[in-house]
Amino acid sequence: MNFTSISTLHPDQIRWIIKRAQAFKEGGSLKINQSVANIFLEPSTRTLMSFQVAQKNLSMDIYNIQADTSSFTKGESLEDTLLNLEAMGINTFVIRSKENAYWENFKQDHNIINAGDGTMNHPSQALLDAMTIEENFGTLENLKVLIVGDVKHSRVYESNKVLLEKFGSTVDVVAPVELGGNDQELKEVIGNYDIVMFLRVQHERHAESFSVAEYNRRFGLNNESVALMKEDAIFMHPGPVNRGVEIEEELLYKHPKCKVLEQVTNGVYIRMAILEFMCKNI
Ligand code: CP
Repeated sequence: MNFTSISTLHPDQIRWIIKRAQAFKEGGSLKINQSVANIFLEPSTRTLMSFQVAQKNLSMDIYNIQADTSSFTKGESLEDTLLNLEAMGINTFVIRSKENAYWENFKQDHNIINAGDGTMNHPSQALLDAMTIEENFGTLENLKVLIVGDVKHSRVYESNKVLLEKFGSTVDVVAPVELGGNDQELKEVIGNYDIVMFLRVQHERHAESFSVAEYNRRFGLNNESVALMKEDAIFMHPGPVNRGVEIEEELLYKHPKCKVLEQVTNGVYIRMAILEFMCKNI
């Protein structure tokens, strides 16, 4: 069974995962007597750690492989690695890779939870974002969402857009032309939206010449632009935040509209629900 993209999930399955995550958040517990390996071939703090916390909360046996201290350095392929781990009795894998849709090259079926592939999918992030949105608005339907920034290189954008549109919410973009936008500025449009989601400027993924100061002036959230937001609107960011680039220092984690740490908290419960969904074959 694969859990690789939001597009393969039915809205009822998304609702089930969020409902189970809420039940875990309210104190519900579950034991899954299975092993899981976390294979992270690209850096991560939030996704790796919250999957580990989720696995520990579910009493799973947890194994971790890092790219630089394993036989990936000797050229072993991802699928050969999975086959060898399966031979040891480990049958579920949480995988992050730089390669888009890395599972499409596999010759056999494996139980994969995609923790982010290249620029394409980040399904657990979109689900934790959806849980955070539902907690704040009581619904995922008919909301107006603005995604700000590097949509050209962002798997967070792709997965959020697919998920939110499944529920009839609209997703618009504001970004520089070279990063996939139409060059409108944030302050021209921010007042129209319920949710404003900032994306990290991914310096490691794009080669365009880029002025951080100019980006911040036109697309960064500051005291002036936050004051233009609707009264009940919120702002979000998947992290890691480039402080003072996407969001002004004094607003991050402190402003009442900032939901960034709620997103991180919800990540643990959403990942518990995803592990239940996968390991119990729901
Ligand atoms: N949001 C997110 O994927 O963060 P990490 O890269 O730290 O896992």
